[in-house]
Amino acid sequence: MKTSSSSQALFPAASSLCTPYLLLVPLGLLAAVVVIPSLGSSHVRSDGLGVLCPSLGTDGYSVASGAEKVVSTAAAAAQPEFRLLVGVLTTPKRRERRDIVRLAYALQPPVPAYARVDVRFVFCGVDDPVDRMLVALEAARHGDVLLLNCTENMNDGKTHQYFSSVPRVFAGAPYDYVMKTDDDTYLRVAAMAEELRPKPRDDVYLGYGFAVGDDPMQFMHGMGYVVSWDVATWVSANEEILRHNDTHGPEDLLFGKWLNIGRRGKNRYSLRPRMYDLNWDMDNFRPDTVAVHMIKDNRRWAAAFRYFNVTAGIRPSNLYHLP
Ligand SMILES: *[C@@H]1O[C@H](CO)[C@@H](O)[C@H](O)[C@H]1NC(C)=O
Ligand SMILES: *[C@@H]1O[C@H](CO)[C@@H](O)[C@H](O)[C@H]1NC(C)=O
Ligand SMILES: *[C@@H]1O[C@H](CO)[C@@H](O)[C@H](O)[C@H]1NC(C)=O
Repeated sequence: MKTSSSSQALFPAASSLCTPYLLLVPLGLLAAVVVIPSLGSSHVRSDGLGVLCPSLGTDGYSVASGAEKVVSTAAAAAQPEFRLLVGVLTTPKRRERRDIVRLAYALQPPVPAYARVDVRFVFCGVDDPVDRMLVALEAARHGDVLLLNCTENMNDGKTHQYFSSVPRVFAGAPYDYVMKTDDDTYLRVAAMAEELRPKPRDDVYLGYGFAVGDDPMQFMHGMGYVVSWDVATWVSANEEILRHNDTHGPEDLLFGKWLNIGRRGKNRYSLRPRMYDLNWDMDNFRPDTVAVHMIKDNRRWAAAFRYFNVTAGIRPSNLYHLP
């Protein structure tokens, strides 16, 4: 509770929507209550900070739908059709990038009521004491951290660790889909939700398909791919993968290899060209983008925010003339 009151003092603008009473609601109710009621409209409600509302560590901030904004004891009525977990793989030192990516998720148009999307930043074990403290601050403030039991230098294998931890960590409240993405990808969550809605809930493997030989989708590009919960569960339970030491190397290619050997993820969908790499000249953005990758510096992030009109609704103010 200290966190909420002190951050409230520091960020008064944020407190208007993220009122401390939310933090006092019993956990069970909170599970049904969306902790970030402002996400949908926050691009209009510029609070000058763009901070995400703090949440209860357990639930992260989420990209929530308008329908869920209402705090209601009958919140069960607003059950989404499916739930998606988005894991953004990152490292402690990439703090500035993470802040930008947080804003990128927070300042998106609302996700339709049929979907519930939770975004988490995924770390391997954070050993350095300074990093630990700073990541702890992020967890306290944003509640969107997922810390895996692995060592950060083991960059190969982190994807495996992620997919094999999630089914256990969230066993009490399983998702329908689990996504892995990176901190140089701008994911447009509503567009992804729209793609997922008519898809099967089982045996799904979806992303930017990579053709190998005559297989049009042998694996999905690491910029971001989605599997259904059963596939993540299968990965987590499959000891062959570890026994064959099959976690070192290009994670996206390896992930496809595991599924191909195991004959999983047979419902495959490639979202090309709506998922793509941003080119050098940054002139290939498209309005129907689901995910754009290779946003590797601030200049490219700025171009993406500009193209997608992220600050278009910024509130006029005497205090700034932006953007
Ligand atoms: C890490 O290990 C601890 C102790 O075994 C366990 O409680 C925790 O759930 C694990 N965390 C993850 C993300 O797997
Ligand atoms: C597994 O891979 C690691 C890293 O490439 C290597 O150091 C290790 O010797 C391998 N183990 C086996 C059993 O192949
Ligand atoms: C951004 O706004 C401009 C002007 O209103 C509009 O023409 C354009 O389609 C918008 N871009 C996107 C990606 O929505």
